[in-house]
Amino acid sequence: MRTPRNGNWSWSVSALVALCLSTTVFTGVSQVAASPTPLRSSSSESRAPLLLGAAWYPEQWPEARWEPDLQLMESAGIHFVRVGEFAWSTMEPAEGEYKFDWLERAIALAAKHHIQVVLGTPTAAPPAWLTQKYPETLRINEDGRPDEHGNRQQFNWSDPKYRELAHDIASRMAECFGHNPNVIGWQIDNEYAEESYGPDDRQRFQQWLKSRYGTLDALNARWTTAYWSQTYTDWNQIPIETGYGNPGLLLNWKLFVSDTWRSYQKNQIDAIRSHADTRQFITTNMMGWFSGYDHYTVSPELDLAAWDDYVGEGHLDPVRNGAAHDLTRGFLGKSFWVMETQPGFVNWAKVNNTLNKGEVRAMAWHDLGHGADAVSYWQWRSALNGQEEYHGTLVGADGTPTPLYAEVAQLGREFAKAGPVLAGTSVHSEVAILHSYESRWAINWQRHNSDYDPVKELLSYYGPLRDYAQSIDVVSPDAPLSQYKLVVAPALNVIPEETAQKLIAYVRGGGHLVLGDRSGMKDADNALWPQRQPGPLADLLGGRVEQYYALEAPVEVLGNFGQPASMRAKQYANLWAEQLSVKAPDTEVLLRYAKSNGWLDGQPAAITRRVGKGRITYIGASLDSKAMAAAANWMVRTSGVTRALGPVPASIDVYPRSGGDRLVYILVNFGKKTETVDLPSEMTDILHDSKVRRLTLQQYDVAVLQTAARH
Ligand code: GAL
Repeated sequence: MRTPRNGNWSWSVSALVALCLSTTVFTGVSQVAASPTPLRSSSSESRAPLLLGAAWYPEQWPEARWEPDLQLMESAGIHFVRVGEFAWSTMEPAEGEYKFDWLERAIALAAKHHIQVVLGTPTAAPPAWLTQKYPETLRINEDGRPDEHGNRQQFNWSDPKYRELAHDIASRMAECFGHNPNVIGWQIDNEYAEESYGPDDRQRFQQWLKSRYGTLDALNARWTTAYWSQTYTDWNQIPIETGYGNPGLLLNWKLFVSDTWRSYQKNQIDAIRSHADTRQFITTNMMGWFSGYDHYTVSPELDLAAWDDYVGEGHLDPVRNGAAHDLTRGFLGKSFWVMETQPGFVNWAKVNNTLNKGEVRAMAWHDLGHGADAVSYWQWRSALNGQEEYHGTLVGADGTPTPLYAEVAQLGREFAKAGPVLAGTSVHSEVAILHSYESRWAINWQRHNSDYDPVKELLSYYGPLRDYAQSIDVVSPDAPLSQYKLVVAPALNVIPEETAQKLIAYVRGGGHLVLGDRSGMKDADNALWPQRQPGPLADLLGGRVEQYYALEAPVEVLGNFGQPASMRAKQYANLWAEQLSVKAPDTEVLLRYAKSNGWLDGQPAAITRRVGKGRITYIGASLDSKAMAAAANWMVRTSGVTRALGPVPASIDVYPRSGGDRLVYILVNFGKKTETVDLPSEMTDILHDSKVRRLTLQQYDVAVLQTAARH
């Protein structure tokens, strides 16, 4: 029996070994005595509230090496390992010959070292025998050639045979480990990314279109296929286009891709769920701003959202990275996991510099501050051969700690200390930023100004708004909105009718909706709204976009969102400017363009209208940071948004987490200078066991402060 490090769980290691072999028929597995042991079916209490993890690949090492590795992990305070996600050829070395005994022993040994396991299904790396026997399971590249072995992700996500084989291996694993008390959850596949463009995929796409549109007449009308004689008279004529094509076709391909990832994932979820305890969560590791599929389509069937958080070249940008955390938290509207993050450096950037000493720790606290409950390092140790030999690790090729190990061990101690305080807390924000894949795709296919990047546009709002509010949710336009005082929609290019009605209801219900430039231009089929921007919201706004202009040079904007004259600095629109008009008597102009191309001179750049207790605002220019700071200040003031903690120096990030009667602030100094923070009241400094009113934080210093929750 074992004693918990951070909880009240306990079990016997021998029970683990018994279970798998009692429930599965294996070929080639050494038979260990099997007697089913009843197990607890709830694990939430059996997990530490904050988890530190590492990706571990026991299949790459002789078994004699496992124990020293696990021992080192345990000493660092690592609570879990993610295992198995590329190990198909070891789990099933030949068709139907399953070998799970090694995995069973690895899991049992991990348990002995108080380390729990997240099991990855290995479907991102099918074995060579599989694709040799079933070549139809290989994905077809855009040039029409099948992918090959030698790397990974060579499978076809839409192929029925691959689904069958994926279902089989996931079921076998779940039969074996679905009741294993040391397995706390599952990761499906690894970083869904690659599509397939073969004739079968195309046919499946055509079928999918048929069920979406019903008739070709409907499709032709919605896509305006009379344009360039694209009219389809047979479903089989419809091609796959990914870069330049009819906008309706492009959008539908991406929607098909997203639905196909969803069913690809569901296939494995079903396989696992039929055998596994409900206490075992199911997740997959997503990739931040990656837009290969609509994550809002794929997430709902998961128990937990997770992502792989890599800085790559350079250093942590707390704004961009923080917004990606908030995006991931928005997939299911609750705390999430960082399933992979870099132990110092990666191997795939242009310059694979390391994060500075202290930065890995600061980043982990930044992760938790944004609502992560787990941070896991990729990877524990590099395989002695393989594509990623140069990647950062926690132990070196000799199996002894790298310099970073001590910093991660410090995190282990700190997670243990702060865990009980942060348990059950999560992030609650008064401000939401709307993010939509359809809008990002639509803009990226037709940027009109090649430097206009919809993610950068979102971040231009996110940064200053976060400075004021200190907490932001990034959510889909389909998420519930009524709890927010302020909802901001930067470049929400595609606004289907239903979404428009929802946004109108939000404003009528007393909320403040701010639409950024390029919003409300397209409908659900990526076709232009005939009202011009912001489409179905134009009437509520009492104004619209008369014309849009890609800018060759910045254009000055005048007006300062009500800030005192002393605070006014010159402000500009960059890259994009829309000439707005006012149609309703009560729509006010907030900002005008100075002299520029003649068309914009003196014309409205931002307008706003009160609607009962609510308000709708349209900002038609991509604003520079000064203008955006003034705009953000105005937005929070007019919406009654309050700072979560209070003013702090610019380089200090503040992260509030709350739950029950607990309110916890995590503070991290990402600046080079030492800074002092005066707190609004005395708080408990959890990491230092003291009471504080004033804090001094050096670069990368972290404070975890507990106070009574606001009512
Ligand atoms: C991730 C991937 C890992 C590993 C890592 C290296 O994208 O999931 O398996 O390759 O990158 O940074």
